[in-house]
Amino acid sequence: MKNKLRSSRVVIIGTGAVGTTTAYTLLLRERISELVLIDANKEKALGEALDMNHGLPFTGGVKLWAGDYSDCADADVIVIAAGASQRPGETRIDLLKRNAGIFDSIIQNIVKYNDHGIILVATNPVDILSYVTLKKSGFPSNRVIGSGTLLDSARFRYLIGQNKKINPRSIHAHIIGEHGDSELPLWSLANVAGIGLEFSEEDREEIFNSTKNAAYEIINAKGATSYAIALALDRIIVSILQNEASVLNVSTLLTDYNGVSDVYLGVPSIVDRTGVREVLDLKLSNEELTQFHASANKLKAEIANLDL
Ligand SMILES: NC(=O)c1ccc[n+]([C@@H]2O[C@H](COP(=O)([O-])OP(=O)(O)OC[C@H]3O[C@@H](n4cnc5c(N)ncnc54)[C@H](O)[C@@H]3O)[C@@H](O)[C@H]2O)c1
Repeated sequence: MKNKLRSSRVVIIGTGAVGTTTAYTLLLRERISELVLIDANKEKALGEALDMNHGLPFTGGVKLWAGDYSDCADADVIVIAAGASQRPGETRIDLLKRNAGIFDSIIQNIVKYNDHGIILVATNPVDILSYVTLKKSGFPSNRVIGSGTLLDSARFRYLIGQNKKINPRSIHAHIIGEHGDSELPLWSLANVAGIGLEFSEEDREEIFNSTKNAAYEIINAKGATSYAIALALDRIIVSILQNEASVLNVSTLLTDYNGVSDVYLGVPSIVDRTGVREVLDLKLSNEELTQFHASANKLKAEIANLDL
């Protein structure tokens, strides 16, 4: 039997490609007891809930319904996947103006009913919107988490696995920084069983470019990304609810971290029932440090234009 926590409620706000695939993933994994779907388009949330409920005879005992913000009252984790997504050719930063406005009302509605849960942000640009969520919610930073570069790191591990012909689960490798164009790969830490991995310059360039541009490629081909982000969100949620203390590259508030403060970026963090318990201290090379600072400065410049 799966290790399901006594009464664990997850609320997903935004039942588009990301929200519904995450809901479906959580249903199949059977690690939570209650799942609530909320969308500005109530009909859509209702239809999705109905469709998923019809699958329950084939899965387990997750109680699922289309709800409203009052259902956040008993939520352990609230996932925000609402808002505009990238159109072909659009960067994640391009979404900021449209999605920052949407977040005003979403956060207000959440905090009206919940002061104890963990908010997990997926909407892009995810690092900046996590910072916006922190400021608007008044929650402590450990309880406001962005999906960060967990997905990018998974893409990176998959591509390294393809290159080395090794299962990606056995590849340990990290992308840090912005979930977006200024992210950076930590080649020096890429390893299998603690053994460092060697790459030609050509392979490095190909693997990192494919990692960084994966979303553009998928959006051009099918309009949205959904499966891998859903699995990444499931990973974070389970690590929280089961108090796993897994190390995940989530987006978290940095304070004097390699010279960076007051911005959310993806870095290896210990995630448990308290949210982000601790950020792991990374020793970056001079080149990595320069790129990391550039990533932070890019996001800080965008944040400075927001009314927070
Ligand atoms: N963090 C990541 O790694 C990652 C990966 C993929 C997508 N995303 C982001 O996730 C977000 C959602 O993507 P998608 O493909 O599911 O988009 P989508 O357009 O399929 O779905 C968005 C949903 O949000 C709903 N919505 C809009 N405003 C709302 C509001 N105020 N309250 C409640 N619901 C509202 C819409 O009705 C829609 O159902 C986008 O910003 C996208 O860029 C992030």
